[in-house]
Amino acid sequence: MKLFKKNKPENSNSTEISRRTFLEKLGLGGVLIGLAGFGFQSFKTLIPNVRYEPAKKFKIGFPNTFTEGITYLKEQRLYVLKNGKSFHCISAVCTHLGCTVKYVNLNQPKKVEIEGTTKEIHSEFHCPCHGSKFYEDGTNFAGPAPKPLKWYKMEISPDDGQLVINMNEESDRSVTLTV
Ligand code: FES
Repeated sequence: MKLFKKNKPENSNSTEISRRTFLEKLGLGGVLIGLAGFGFQSFKTLIPNVRYEPAKKFKIGFPNTFTEGITYLKEQRLYVLKNGKSFHCISAVCTHLGCTVKYVNLNQPKKVEIEGTTKEIHSEFHCPCHGSKFYEDGTNFAGPAPKPLKWYKMEISPDDGQLVINMNEESDRSVTLTV
């Protein structure tokens, strides 16, 4: 004859203990999650947010696609000037407070003295904000702008022959790229 053992009813004391243990673990888990979140936020402050700034050195196209005279690159605020086979690049950022200067074609050429040399100019850059004016080579001659417009280095890309502007390097106002 088989004897069956009757299951003992759960002890109310042990139920109480397991409930307490469960609540303790739950509380501990919450504290750990809170600490992990705090640690993550603190760690994040040590890492700078990624900023997507425009490239400072970039291709602008093949030399023969540029028309004679001036081309404005709106995104970079640059003027590219083509004179036959020679190119140079002038910043459109006014050296006073940074407004964008406008290219102005003169009705007739005028003779000006730039750094002791008399030159004939055909165009100027005018700033609409406070009236600064620059000769076509970027030399400031009127208004509050304290210095000339910047020139940036131009080069030919060795891989495909496109024109490259390097805004990391300023160039002398007499240096042009011949292609
Ligand atoms: S920003 Fe050009 S003159 Fe002031």
